[in-house]
Amino acid sequence: MAKVRTIDELDPQGKRVLVRVDFNVPIDDGVVTDDTRIRAALPTIQKLIEGGGRVILVSHRGRPAGTGFEEAYSLAPAAKRLAEILDREVILAEDITGPSAQSVVGALEDGQVAVLENVRFDAREKKDDPAFARELAALADVYVNDAFGTAHRAHASTEGVAKLLPAYAGYLMQREVETLTSMLDDPRRPFVAVLGGSKVSDKIKVIDALLDKADVLIIGGAMCFTFLLAEGHEVGKSLVEPEWVERAHDMVAKAKRNDVKLLLPVDVIVAGGIADDAKTQAVSVKEMPNDMMGLDIGPETAEIYADAIRKAASVFWNGPMGVFEMAPFEAGTRRVAEVIANNEDADTIIGGGDSVAAINKFALADQMTFISTGGGASMELVQGEALPGVEALKVR
Ligand code: 3PG
Repeated sequence: MAKVRTIDELDPQGKRVLVRVDFNVPIDDGVVTDDTRIRAALPTIQKLIEGGGRVILVSHRGRPAGTGFEEAYSLAPAAKRLAEILDREVILAEDITGPSAQSVVGALEDGQVAVLENVRFDAREKKDDPAFARELAALADVYVNDAFGTAHRAHASTEGVAKLLPAYAGYLMQREVETLTSMLDDPRRPFVAVLGGSKVSDKIKVIDALLDKADVLIIGGAMCFTFLLAEGHEVGKSLVEPEWVERAHDMVAKAKRNDVKLLLPVDVIVAGGIADDAKTQAVSVKEMPNDMMGLDIGPETAEIYADAIRKAASVFWNGPMGVFEMAPFEAGTRRVAEVIANNEDADTIIGGGDSVAAINKFALADQMTFISTGGGASMELVQGEALPGVEALKVR
């Protein structure tokens, strides 16, 4: 396999280093409400500062129209938060490759840090436009990609520019790829994968891929109802994807073929609708009332899942077991999160997205071995797909 250079092979002294980070962080009223992704990029940023590099950070945030500056998507709050964490000045350019960026970069001294404005303010970013990639490359001497969360996007700042400058993987990118890859290639066994979320269609490729790797595959979240339908159960008003029933059925068959223990709920929490004050009831999956919807796994199921997780030597978790944001439907996700956190002997890897929000809600983050900063990116990697942001770093 072609090699990826890491920043340990880079002497940044006096060099302009363009660093793609993923500062796609939640911001409320101009304040960053979760700085996990900013903190995750610190080892790379600090290494470059200490090595005397002139650090130019480039990121997207959200999905702006691509027609120029939009206050709501500005990276100013992220730059401010970074300055607070680093306890040093962070200079914000008012544009991406225009006059402001050029003058900010031109004035940067060794060890200083600048942030360019949201790279998606320019529509050419998502088109991986070669001219835009050249403009980005002209700002720097070398390129570092530390944006694992955006590695599944083939954009100008993740792919195009990597081909125009000497390119390196940052520490976060390196750690994410190594952790997820080694979990897939050589997991400690038993390897238990826990998948939740609302749609089978979103997770089918991950399920398919994990049925080739895991010893136990646990299914929760609303997608379990499509599986229960495939198993011949009535599911009342629960969310289902009828067009995916056949694929769900194929997955049950594949699990049998591969000798993977596929666990589906035996009971669920039902309610008349999704509401904070919903009246709930635990019912067997054999007796789901036809006027109710399933919104969490039931207590018996949670104990079966907990038992499998307790015996695991490695656990991969992606997707909540129910509507954990609401108190009446949080118990299943909470139980699963706690048992994963309490399995201190296992490698516990959380695959980004909503499961991370759940772990944060239950304050269990520091008890996990590794929490990916990439939702979509970690899913694509687990599915066995090549990530353009990583491919572009390979030394040709
Ligand atoms: C993410 O939050 O998953 C990444 O930052 C990618 O964002 P995107 O889905 O808007 O490309």
